[in-house]
Amino acid sequence: MFSRYKKQPAGQPVETATNAPAPTPDAAAAPAAAKSNAIARKPLQKKAAEVTGSDRERKRKERLGEIKIELHRELLENLNLAALENAAEAELRTEISAIASEVLETRNIVLNREDRTQLNKELYDEVTGLGPLETLLRDDTVNDILVNGPQQIFVERFGKLEVSDITFKDEKHLMRIIDKIVSAVGRRVDESNPYVDARLADGSRFNAMVPPIAVDGSLVSIRKFKKDKLGIDDLVNFGAFTEEMAAYLQAAVSTRLNVIVSGGTGSGKTTTLNALSSFIDDAERILTIEDTAELQLQQTHVGRMESRPPNVEGKGEVSPRDCLKNALRMRPDRIIVGETRGAEVIDMLQAMNTGHDGSMTTIHANSARDGISRLENMIAMAGIEMPIKAVRSQISSAVNLIVQASRLQDGSRRMTSITEITGMEGDVISMQEIFRFQRVGLTPDNKIIGHFTATGVRSHYSERFRLWGFDLPSSIYEPTTV
Ligand SMILES: Nc1ncnc2c1ncn2[C@@H]1O[C@H](COP(=O)(O)OP(=O)(O)OP(=O)(O)O)[C@@H](O)[C@H]1O
Ligand SMILES: [Mg+2]
Repeated sequence: MFSRYKKQPAGQPVETATNAPAPTPDAAAAPAAAKSNAIARKPLQKKAAEVTGSDRERKRKERLGEIKIELHRELLENLNLAALENAAEAELRTEISAIASEVLETRNIVLNREDRTQLNKELYDEVTGLGPLETLLRDDTVNDILVNGPQQIFVERFGKLEVSDITFKDEKHLMRIIDKIVSAVGRRVDESNPYVDARLADGSRFNAMVPPIAVDGSLVSIRKFKKDKLGIDDLVNFGAFTEEMAAYLQAAVSTRLNVIVSGGTGSGKTTTLNALSSFIDDAERILTIEDTAELQLQQTHVGRMESRPPNVEGKGEVSPRDCLKNALRMRPDRIIVGETRGAEVIDMLQAMNTGHDGSMTTIHANSARDGISRLENMIAMAGIEMPIKAVRSQISSAVNLIVQASRLQDGSRRMTSITEITGMEGDVISMQEIFRFQRVGLTPDNKIIGHFTATGVRSHYSERFRLWGFDLPSSIYEPTTV
């Protein structure tokens, strides 16, 4: 009798068989032809990450967490916080461990040596620093720290996001650390003022958003500050671009082309901008404008500015545009704006057009063409009413080069395109790509296979390069054959 629940007889095509977890004996017996005709869908990716560890381990951590909170309260009561500022590290650690032992003893709590060392370390971090975040901040392999509520912290290592086994005790604990960070820079975050940007003492960029806007607990994002920024040689060694591209970029920066680094979030824009700045002559006066000072220029003559958001009363804002306007009165040879995202675009383009050649900035865009549209949009949003052709001609005469930074799906960061802006053709800005990253495939373990190549187009600026003493061989414009 017909039944909807009956198994399909062997050999009949099964609609969704391709992503079935394991072939049943029936399916295995199906003729090979039927199988190879089916469009193979890749198995769905496993969950991005799952906190591993046994139940026992979790319980142990929970217990330690509870003891820690209690001890922390006791410590705050027993420690002279004012004296703490000047206490030597060793002294403070001894003090903390003594108070902890005392409390553990009076409460009849027995911990093994490993747990006790761990507890003392965490208490020290809690009292002097940023609690659970300290371990991650100290870990040099971690680039980004992303907190999604107290129980989930993701970190980026080697271009890949992974979940960390470090957690906060609860939302209150997380909020306390957030408060500690933002109050250190004279800001406040609460229900009425639910998000904040700040800079940690070590220079890391910090952003937090708290409930109720953050639905499942506070969201924190930290871009770790790298003491040793990646330089041109590091980036070439990492395969972010080639030696030929580096030679071309050196010519472009040294001959004062205006450069925009475009890319998605976390794609390596600031790193690229910083590396490119190393080509600037040491004799030049450089002014930098950023929301959070991240750039580390090697030159002697550098003036750094950091814009400031309005304070709690909505006063005291110094926007990137204010900084830029003022910078123009400070006799700069070059201006570097960390990121152009608003009205400052007008002044940036004007600066590029009027004698501050060799200026550089970054924008959020996915390709050179997209970057141009972003600039057009920013100009429109800034309330400048200009015919589109005039806007484009302003952009095309200001910007010479767009360098595209990308974070590819395997986590690698590469300069996927270098494009020159060559002028206008009718209403359209004309561009030519000089170098690109040519993807050819994917290895079985999802690593990208590809190579950098020139496009065969000679630089629009090659004569300028030659006149300035950067006589690049024509071979660097020849496509790579593999
Ligand atoms: N080519 C590279 N290889 C390896 N790591 C890189 C590379 N480029 C950048 N990084 C690292 O990636 C992280 C993000 O880089 P960066 O801050 O330059 O990105 P961004 O595009 O400016 O990000 P955002 O959009 O948040 O400003 C940094 O920790 C940096 O050190
Ligand atoms: Mg950046």
